[in-house]
Amino acid sequence: MEGVIDADTRALLSDDGALDWCVTEFVRVVDAKLPPRVFLRHCPELATAGSSGPLTPSSTPVTLQLLGSDPQALAANAEQAIAQGATRLDLNFGCPAKTVNRHDGGASLLRTPERVHAVVTAVADAGRRFGVSVNAKLRLGFDDKQLALACAQAAEAGGAEELVVHARTRREGYRPPAHWEWIARIRSAVSVPVVANGDIWSLEDYWKARTLSGCHDVMLGRGMLADPWLARRIRHWQDSGGERLSPTPWSARSAMLTRYAQAKQQAGMQEKVIVSLLKQWLNIMRGRDAEAATRFMALRRETALPSFLAGLDSDESGHDPSWGHLRPTTIE
Ligand SMILES: Cc1cc2nc3c(=O)[nH]c(=O)nc-3n(C[C@H](O)[C@H](O)[C@H](O)COP(=O)(O)O)c2cc1C
Repeated sequence: MEGVIDADTRALLSDDGALDWCVTEFVRVVDAKLPPRVFLRHCPELATAGSSGPLTPSSTPVTLQLLGSDPQALAANAEQAIAQGATRLDLNFGCPAKTVNRHDGGASLLRTPERVHAVVTAVADAGRRFGVSVNAKLRLGFDDKQLALACAQAAEAGGAEELVVHARTRREGYRPPAHWEWIARIRSAVSVPVVANGDIWSLEDYWKARTLSGCHDVMLGRGMLADPWLARRIRHWQDSGGERLSPTPWSARSAMLTRYAQAKQQAGMQEKVIVSLLKQWLNIMRGRDAEAATRFMALRRETALPSFLAGLDSDESGHDPSWGHLRPTTIE
């Protein structure tokens, strides 16, 4: 997720081994072949990539995402990424940003399935030459859902091996609801695996998304930042045959934010920039957690990193800092 998920967040969120894979922010391709440093900036994990491709420290595979509309330029950059060690590529047909769409990237291609097809074909052909798989990330459409199935079929015909579908149109932005039932329609129109995405914030959302979409797999976005144990929660429920983990305590969220700040400090990032990144993350957490909301309100004007971290860690709210680990509870 652009501006939100970087190699440090990927390392932290994949640390418990509950994620199957994660994706970089998009690398935007216009017409030129980008220099290696651009790919490394988006995917520092390439620097240590072996035969399994880029991995997080917990060995979770990292997919590199490209965004653009020029098939040849995208194919050339796909080859560049592969030469640097990428083994899984994803194409972004979902970005709603005006600047990106004005330059014909992201969701704007969903107005013309033929262009989705041309882009996927060029990149999948490049990938195939090196044994690298290519996925497509789609929304349900640009203004409406009329071309949802046609775009998914175009991506499949072009050679996409898996489709991740964010169950909203570009016009719908990030506003609830996510139309998971539309993903079921897409699933029945294609034969490649489809992954459901959009508004999965909790185990309950995961059940609903799976039931309505019929998908076996889901992609977690903001929900994973709001509850860093969401993937673990889902995994535990699957593996234990229905056992539920108790809610993620504040101490775990605060520890995650603190570890993120430490990683950024070690990388030499300015403290005020770290604070603004922490506020961004806490802002996503606060919609789903009362304690995060209280901390956010108390810290929203804080600019000094030590005070911000102390505010995350303090125990003013009566929270029990002696919390140790997740306790399973069974679903009634
Ligand atoms: C700030 C932000 C940045 C995002 N950047 C990307 C991106 O670079 N590539 C992408 O495929 N999706 C991106 N997305 C979309 C998410 O991957 C996801 O499809 C969307 O947020 C819906 O899922 P969620 O409700 O679980 O967050 C971004 C979303 C947000 C909110």
